[in-house]
Amino acid sequence: MQTIIGKNIDKAIRLLEEGKIIAIPTETVYGLAANALNEEAVIKIFEAKNRPAFNPLIVHIKSWDDAGLYAQHIPAIAHQLAKALSPGPITFLLSKKDIIPDLVTAGSALVAIRVPNHPLTLSLLSRLAFPLAAPSANEFGYISPTLASHVLDSLEGKIEYILDGEAASVGLESTIIGFDENEQVIVHRVGGVSIEEIEEITGFPVKMAGKTEENKPTSSGQLKSHYAPKTELYIGDIAELAKKFEGKKMVSINFQQTYELNNVQQFVLSETASLSEASKNLFHTMRQIDKLDADIILAEIFPDNGLGKAINDRLSRAQAIYK
Ligand code: TXA
Ligand code: MG
Repeated sequence: MQTIIGKNIDKAIRLLEEGKIIAIPTETVYGLAANALNEEAVIKIFEAKNRPAFNPLIVHIKSWDDAGLYAQHIPAIAHQLAKALSPGPITFLLSKKDIIPDLVTAGSALVAIRVPNHPLTLSLLSRLAFPLAAPSANEFGYISPTLASHVLDSLEGKIEYILDGEAASVGLESTIIGFDENEQVIVHRVGGVSIEEIEEITGFPVKMAGKTEENKPTSSGQLKSHYAPKTELYIGDIAELAKKFEGKKMVSINFQQTYELNNVQQFVLSETASLSEASKNLFHTMRQIDKLDADIILAEIFPDNGLGKAINDRLSRAQAIYK
């Protein structure tokens, strides 16, 4: 199968209506999309990604007004957050209606719902009679794609079309939240909306999700090794790590500045120390670095606030695989 990259929405609509899978742009990362109401179409997503079937998919809708079509009960606080943050990088876990196939939620009674904030994909969704189930458009476990070319690198020959929406403006996956019996917000995955923003809107502190009783992660974002480059990655003080690994071919991911080290090729994510710029550049830089044939990647610890928390989360998952 030949994979084509283009900006033809009519073609994207036709393929999706035929029950095919295509890659779509979002402001967070590119998604691998299918008609969420069609099980046969959704199965193709799992096959193309080599994704285990126990791992549920996010359902993308055109407007928060549609959430009630797919969710049984929507807590008032979810409406409040969606009003402030949707369309945007936030996903809500809500009790599902029967119209959503069990395959999409991997058997869970909860469905993950998000309104992506990308003009091409919003216009696509508004012309479709169904919502789109979509995980990130990468092979399972690898770094999420923030450019159409990243999708091609992972899925060439496995899908017919990649709808090209240029570089993702946020660059990190959505923040996933659920609600406890008291309708308090539980964060399942940190992402493009910061915890501070959520707390500011609700006026209450969030809870961080733990693992379920069987020690099964409730979100693959919680699997320890995920978002991982193929090259080994170590997090810490770059100068110290460079000394420890002397003699190895090293590259590094730095926040705002380079250090005086002549044995490390250094990549700065934001010269102006902007965490949103750093987020936007993180996955692209990880992919670039992964092609350099280095022995190891060194990564700095980012400030642990705002989007820095999500950056640190992704870096630590990228490291976990080697521990
Ligand atoms: O920004 C994003 O969220 C991107 C774009 C494409 O929307 N999507 C994304 O999808 O990152 P994915 O599948 O790579 O990660 C979604 C996470 C998974 O870890 C999955 O386990 C969790 O959402 N999830 C989806 N449905 C769920 C459900 N019903 N209950 C619990 N977790 C769920
Ligand atoms: Mg993913």
